[in-house]
Amino acid sequence: MEKKQAVVTSDTLTKEQIRELAAKSLAGIKNSYAPYSHFHVSAVLLSENGNIYTGNNIENAAYTPSVCAERCAFFKAVSEEERDFAAIALCGGLKGVVKDYCAPCGVCRQALFEFGGPELNVIMAKTPDDFIERSMDELLPFGFGPSNVA
Ligand code: THU
Repeated sequence: MEKKQAVVTSDTLTKEQIRELAAKSLAGIKNSYAPYSHFHVSAVLLSENGNIYTGNNIENAAYTPSVCAERCAFFKAVSEEERDFAAIALCGGLKGVVKDYCAPCGVCRQALFEFGGPELNVIMAKTPDDFIERSMDELLPFGFGPSNVA
């Protein structure tokens, strides 16, 4: 697929865009399916084309088939041919009540690194105005990625 000029990158993200992503992730927590852990997670992914993909954790009675919110969002995007990403916002809390910042689990960090690379901006939101931002490089230093196997 031919690479289009990016509409937004992790470098050009404005505070208002970050606030919007944080707000969207908080609004999407109601879509979590977490009847086993009761820990609800919501993610909102922004591609460099400016498209938005939402994701939630979706659990399973057999536990292992469960998927985290971040990977749900990424898999939706990648399955629709999206390949370049600027940012992902996420939030989580027991019974959908967000009390603290929710950081991506180790497996998600690896999956985020695959498509987001070291520059991806990860926004961990408590409220639309209260969030922590970290790059993937900070969350997964010395990450193993596509360039290692090329
Ligand atoms: N969870 C996520 O969706 N993302 C993370 O990065 C951390 C954990 C989900 C998995 C499981 O459904 C629930 O939170 C409790 O671990």
